Amino acid sequence: MIGKMRLPMNNVDKKLHRLKGNKFLRDLCSETDFTRSNFVQPIFVNETITNKEEILGLKDNFVMNLDDTLKQINVDISNGVNNFLLFISPKNKAQNSFNLSFHEQVISSVKDEFKNDINLWTDVCLCSLTDHGHCCLFNNDHSINLDTTLLEISNIARIYAEAGSDVIAPSDMMDGRTLKIREVLDNSNLSMTPIISYSTKFSSNFYGPFRNAAESTPSFGDRKQYQLDYRSKSEAIRASIRCAEEGADMLMVKPGITSIDLISNIKDKTNLMVGAYQVSGEYAGICLSEEKGLLNLEEALKETWHVMRRAEAQFIITYGARLAKQIGF
Ligand code: PBG
Repeated sequence: MIGKMRLPMNNVDKKLHRLKGNKFLRDLCSETDFTRSNFVQPIFVNETITNKEEILGLKDNFVMNLDDTLKQINVDISNGVNNFLLFISPKNKAQNSFNLSFHEQVISSVKDEFKNDINLWTDVCLCSLTDHGHCCLFNNDHSINLDTTLLEISNIARIYAEAGSDVIAPSDMMDGRTLKIREVLDNSNLSMTPIISYSTKFSSNFYGPFRNAAESTPSFGDRKQYQLDYRSKSEAIRASIRCAEEGADMLMVKPGITSIDLISNIKDKTNLMVGAYQVSGEYAGICLSEEKGLLNLEEALKETWHVMRRAEAQFIITYGARLAKQIGF
């Protein structure tokens, strides 16, 4: 009887090695192939800067003025990048009533120049605008003033979308911001502009290089009042569910590698696609290790990207998106 047959265990033990015998067989068995289209390249634009400055730890990533930004995007397009995520830092920081003319100029110039050759995302947050570097507005007692914060954030999102941003990416982690942004966009004839929310975003040690580049280091305290605690799991998933219920079109976990256990769970619970942000500290760790001769940059990046994809990330935001083509994606 078939069911009673004993398997020759010696051969069974070797089975895993057998499918690794040559490159073609390994490629054939790869379950995590994806392409350049799945990558998003962050770009930092700064109103005060004249000469571009390399961001510490993020090899080949610069803080740039608008002119250099246009040049960089042009080169990136020729290297196969089509999705860009803008972080714009204006000269004047304020407490409220933010001046967004530089943002409008950057977004409309980039879109005028590259039209539909690119898909332009803009990060929506207050931390590069406020004089205190937090992602929200405060009451006098330093508690979060949610109502005015949501008004500002949704207004900013509308201005970015009107200036030509194809995608709105709120990263502030304020309760209710996706709903409010959706409402404002819909009321402004922008109902086709997608919102890709940073929905599961942890208060993380891995944002350091970014904060230097985006001038978004808080001048007091930290972001633990509004970003997720990395010890949490159900709350981290719930934060994404909430964004989905509020109308987000896609979701995101961040940092990428330290959140990979959550991606498929969030996807299952929301039926939305979920991307991963390989944040600045994660990326810098790889770049600096390479600088010390401890690993091969391209191979290590490839590994992290495949791992995020294996965890079911639909897109990957990474400072190495512009290397994806040469790495073989
Ligand atoms: C702004 C924002 C941050 C990042 C993206 N948007 C910093 C933060 O929340 O402190 C981090 C990205 C990175 O480190 O690469 N809210």
